[in-house]
Parts: sequence; C-alpha cells; structure tokens
Amino acid sequence: MNVLVFASRKGGSGKSTLTAHLAAHAAKSNSPTLLIDADPQGSLTLWHQIRGEENPSIKKGVRGIAEAVKAAKREGYEWVFIDTPPTKSSAIVEAIGSATMVVIPSRPSVFDLAAVQDTIAISREQRKPYAVILNAAPAKRNDAESAVVADARGALSQLRVPVWSGQITNRAELSLALAYGEASNEFDAESAAAEEISNLWKAIERSVKAINGAYKNSRGGRAAA
Ligand SMILES: Nc1ncnc2c1ncn2[C@@H]1O[C@H](COP(=O)(O)OP(=O)(O)OP(=O)(O)O)[C@@H](O)[C@H]1O
Ligand SMILES: [Mg+2]
Repeated sequence: MNVLVFASRKGGSGKSTLTAHLAAHAAKSNSPTLLIDADPQGSLTLWHQIRGEENPSIKKGVRGIAEAVKAAKREGYEWVFIDTPPTKSSAIVEAIGSATMVVIPSRPSVFDLAAVQDTIAISREQRKPYAVILNAAPAKRNDAESAVVADARGALSQLRVPVWSGQITNRAELSLALAYGEASNEFDAESAAAEEISNLWKAIERSVKAINGAYKNSRGGRAAA
C-alpha cells in the first residue's frame, strides 16, 4: 500500500484540488483507493459527497492518522491519499510519518515558496521522500515556461528541493470539474488540464515505484529524499 500526503502550510496552494484529481485517477485503474480528509475545512469531503461514488472511498474526522493508515492496509487499500490543513500541527507531522511520499503543492510565488520550507523540514526530519509540484502556474507560451515558474525552479534547485519537471497550469476547469464531483479526465478527457494531471500521476507512480525499490534494496532503510 502506498500513502501520498498532500501538505503545505500555505492556504490555497492546491492540496485539496490535487488530492481529488489524482485520487480519482488512481481509483480509475480499479485500485482500491482511500481518501483521508484530515482538514476540518472538509473540501475533499464535499467533493466526495457530490461525486457519490465508492472508489475512492473517504474517511473524515479521523483522530489518529497512523491508526487510520494501518486500518487501511488491513482493509486492502492500494492507495491512500491524505489531504491536510494549512496549519502547523501534530496531525501533519503524524500524516507525514505515515507517508510513502509527501506531495507539496506550491504556487510559483515567493510567499508560497517560503511557506513550503516548514513542510520540507518535517519531511526531511522524518526522512520521507517529497517533491514540490508547481500549481496554478501561468500557461506556457510556445512550450516555454513563464518567468515566474523558471524563477521558482531556480530558487528551489538552490535549496536542493526536488521539483516535478512539469506544471499544473491555472485552469478554471480544474475547479469546475470538482464542483461537479468529477476529476479532470472525467470532466473533459481531451483537455489540457486532464493531460497535465495525467502526466503528474504518471510521475508520482514512477517515483513511488522507485521509492519502494530503493526501500527493498536497502533492506529496511529509507529511500533518499
Ligand atoms: N491549477 C489550478 N487552476 C485553477 N484553480 C486552482 C488550481 N489549483 C487550485 N485552484 C483553486 O484555488 C483554490 C484553492 O485550492 P485548494 O482548495 O485546492 O487549496 P488548498 O491548498 O487545499 O487550500 P487550504 O490550504 O485552504 O486547504 C480553490 O478555489 C481551487 O479551485
Ligand atoms: Mg484544502
């Protein structure tokens, strides 16, 4: 079982949006998928209610995240997606402690990038692999990234922070789809939004495979971040 934790102290960076879109992707391939909505705001729970489907299923108001993850393993889930609140709390530390990989969405702005430092520090302390995903980025022009995205990559690479090579562009369809209880590929399979989310999902699957491989090879050690 693999556990993806979506975390960032910055409000509105795209944690709930990416959790919903990606979890629907995981569930599509018939893999039993569980969402844990660890944010009292309940964004994911609202999406799940509108959706009205069983896979992914959802747990909310979970008291002990580590316990909930253990239970999910017993119940045979293949993927667990944990959405967390934009606060500093012991629940985030616990969620990250249960992670196979920590996904840190960030808008490509200086304030957002500053706010990811905390999440990175917690991930590093717990020796958990993590990656920053640049979200709500300005659209590419002629396949070239915007200056803010290029700057953000430069700043993160100086800090030796792994960043996904793609971007999730700011697109109204991404929030519109969620309002219908759908994910990007269900809302419009041919859209650029669906393509970006699908590319992100493939990259996460590849990373998780590599993490699990490294874990096996080191006979119990952790994969490097
Ligand atoms: N790529 C995107 N394109 C367009 N809108 C986006 C994108 N990502 C997020 N949004 C919008 O930005 C807002 C914040 O996103 P979201 O709720 O996913 O962030 P969050 O990190 O979960 O916030 P919080 O910290 O409050 O839980 C939402 O209205 C969402 O629809
Ligand atoms: Mg949220």
